[in-house]
Amino acid sequence: MTPASERRWLRPPSDDRPASFAYGADYNPEQWPREVWKEDVRLMREAGVTVVSVAIFSWARLQPAEDRWDFAWLDEVLDLLHDSGIAVDLATATASPPPWLTTLHPEILPVTRTGETLSQGARQHWRPTSPVFRAYALRLVEAMATRYADHPALVAWHISNELGCHNIYDYSDDAAQAFRDWLRTRYGTLDELNRAWATSFWSQYYGQWEQIQPPRLAASHANPTQQLDFKRFSSDALKDYLRAERDVLRRITPDVPVTTNFMVMGETKGMNYPDWADEIDFVSNDHYAHPGPQRLDELSFSAALTHSIAHGRPWFLMEHSTSAVNWQTVNVAKTEGELARDSLVHVAHGADAVCFFQWRQSAAGAEKYHSAMVPHAGPDSEVFRAVTALGRTLRELTPVTGSVREPARAALVYDWDSWWAVERDSQPTSLLRYRQEALDWYSAFLALGVRVDVVTTAADLTGYDFVAAPVLHVVPKDLADRLDAYVRGGGHLATTYYSGVVDENDHVHLGGYPGALRDLLGIRIEEFGPLLEDADVRLDNGLTGTLWTDRIEVTDPEVTVLARYETGDQAGRPALTRRVPADGGSASYLSTRLGSQGLTGVLETLLSGAGVASELPAGARGRVEATVRTDGTHAYWFLVNRTDEPVEFDAVDGEALTGPAPAGGGLVLPPREVAVLRVEAGATPFLPGV
Ligand code: GLA
Repeated sequence: MTPASERRWLRPPSDDRPASFAYGADYNPEQWPREVWKEDVRLMREAGVTVVSVAIFSWARLQPAEDRWDFAWLDEVLDLLHDSGIAVDLATATASPPPWLTTLHPEILPVTRTGETLSQGARQHWRPTSPVFRAYALRLVEAMATRYADHPALVAWHISNELGCHNIYDYSDDAAQAFRDWLRTRYGTLDELNRAWATSFWSQYYGQWEQIQPPRLAASHANPTQQLDFKRFSSDALKDYLRAERDVLRRITPDVPVTTNFMVMGETKGMNYPDWADEIDFVSNDHYAHPGPQRLDELSFSAALTHSIAHGRPWFLMEHSTSAVNWQTVNVAKTEGELARDSLVHVAHGADAVCFFQWRQSAAGAEKYHSAMVPHAGPDSEVFRAVTALGRTLRELTPVTGSVREPARAALVYDWDSWWAVERDSQPTSLLRYRQEALDWYSAFLALGVRVDVVTTAADLTGYDFVAAPVLHVVPKDLADRLDAYVRGGGHLATTYYSGVVDENDHVHLGGYPGALRDLLGIRIEEFGPLLEDADVRLDNGLTGTLWTDRIEVTDPEVTVLARYETGDQAGRPALTRRVPADGGSASYLSTRLGSQGLTGVLETLLSGAGVASELPAGARGRVEATVRTDGTHAYWFLVNRTDEPVEFDAVDGEALTGPAPAGGGLVLPPREVAVLRVEAGATPFLPGV
């Protein structure tokens, strides 16, 4: 169990109710007249709301001019919430600088790669490295912290909002200066930098630090290591800003935990969150589902990754949507059951808080068609009824709070450096999508009903029986050594095309691919064989590959060829290999893209070689996601029906905390529903022999 003191947000300090799930939303009362606030808190109580995030975009209201402050309205809101037993996750309000500031100091506005300056008028129009912006923002943070330090509603600080959502890459002169400073720290000398950036290529040698620029629009492909370093720097620059706000808060309110909302989901690769997580007191995440066949898989994948970013401790789901969003191409409403199921998948993966964007749907502004807990239709609506029902469900799940997700026997490695490197220009193909490949592997695990942790390269892999590391492109020497030791220690590793190819400076490991992993895999590749967009190849196991092939030569007698190409330029050559060293586990290599369906069969073979099997009864595999949380005394099995059909279990035991209960030895899980069964720690709810 994680001590409740670390999760003060589970229980408002002035409230003597037992710790329970935090439940709530972003609350933007400044968009509404006072009369609505009273109705808001009444409805919040009805829905079971325990916490709201306030003042996220309130800078202009709190400081309407450089020398004018207005906290009275926020005092009133916080008092009202507190009087109703609702806690406040208070924003530092720095996310969107007001027009007076950008008018006074246009030099805080970010500059794009092509040299255009972004304007005010939306939000997050500030340079992460601007000393001027920082001075104004920290003044506001100081004012907020000082004013509300002792407010009884305050349970957490919410720094800015989704740092980097719109301003992660800034190419301004401030950024150029900060980039040089960052490079000085990384490399120490220009000689080192010139070596790492391979500046003898295309006459790029730097004789003075001042000559270095961010990778602004250039005549052709910018230096690849410069690009990779600029990504690292941009993530670090925002992390540094995060620290600056945090330090003010810690100085003034050392006992109030600090968070900032991450965006662990597909479109936000700029922020290296695993590297940010230790800067805050608890991890929170925002997640928005994307319609499509992998909608639920992606949600689960993001939640699993958030769990590992949070080092396995309970985390806070800061935002998701009750129904449609406003920013996708077509904004699809959620169907019946999805609001609760989406929330509970996050809970299954370790969230102890479920919050939405936002409490009341805006009547005007860019997000007026974004769903909320109270929709335009008002509380007499399906959405509000579902919101209230979820509040009840979370109360039923109170015993789960503080428990941690039970580690899986299999892990899937997710690596920011590789993500950044393979999707840059000047690659063998521009069609490779790193996250999609990882997600396809995750989908294959789900299809087989095998629990899997999503971990970064920093994780200790030794406890896992099986590790999949698709497109692990950037492999520094120490990582290669650790993977080698993992296999020598009995672990089973699977990797794919375009892995092991470069070091941390994006320099190729010479002597043939897959470079740093060549000996471990027992193969050698002289040339990549990427495929044109509409091309595919057949394998002799009946599967079809796209995107990539390799010209593989087996170099080690311990390697078995599990599948060969039947068509294409590599016909007759290996497509899937596995090296089984005399002492150790195994190291497998898949040289093409199979997609989630094709991967499922291959993964089944590889997992069985590692002795990893599904814990679910055969009929439920793929249709139900099983996730386990434990507090050391009990295990809480989350069984999520991923389908639109009922799923029947024949032999199940356990106490239902929420959802359908076992009856007559069996359990029927209705479409899109979730059952949470409590059993003894270490036990399973599935009876033997089934
Ligand atoms: C993000 C932001 C919110 C809101 C939602 C809409 O998560 O943090 O302010 O814009 O997106 O989906």
